[in-house]
Amino acid sequence: MERNGRRTFLGVCLGGLAAAVAAVTAWPVYRYLAPRSTGATAARVDIPEKDVPEGEARFFEFNGASAVVVRKRGGGLIALSAVCTHLGCIVQWEKDKQDFLCPCHGGHYSPEGAVTAGPPPKPLTKLPFSVANGTITVG
Ligand code: FES
Repeated sequence: MERNGRRTFLGVCLGGLAAAVAAVTAWPVYRYLAPRSTGATAARVDIPEKDVPEGEARFFEFNGASAVVVRKRGGGLIALSAVCTHLGCIVQWEKDKQDFLCPCHGGHYSPEGAVTAGPPPKPLTKLPFSVANGTITVG
């Protein structure tokens, strides 16, 4: 009887330890992959043009969600939602490959937001923007 009590106690301790390890491991992964929620509701965002050099991307919050401006090689600008159209993870800019990677399921998008590989069902949403006096205005 006492042996069963010890086994039960050890089982409970190991189960609790496994749950704690899983929680400590999963939380940073969740925070990395989940859409950023800062409560920002800016419907218009100004970004200095100099902050987006050729071949680079600049991420920001737009209407409470992640968005990105890319200056493609050759100079063309584009503003996109950074929320993957598959299950909503935030895409990352791969400067060396000049494309977007969604880290959740390996979706790839071109600099224009078109799906080039993986499970995303549709392109990244384009955002309206204008450029004047060295400032990119999204929204
Ligand atoms: S959430 Fe982006 S590929 Fe699945």
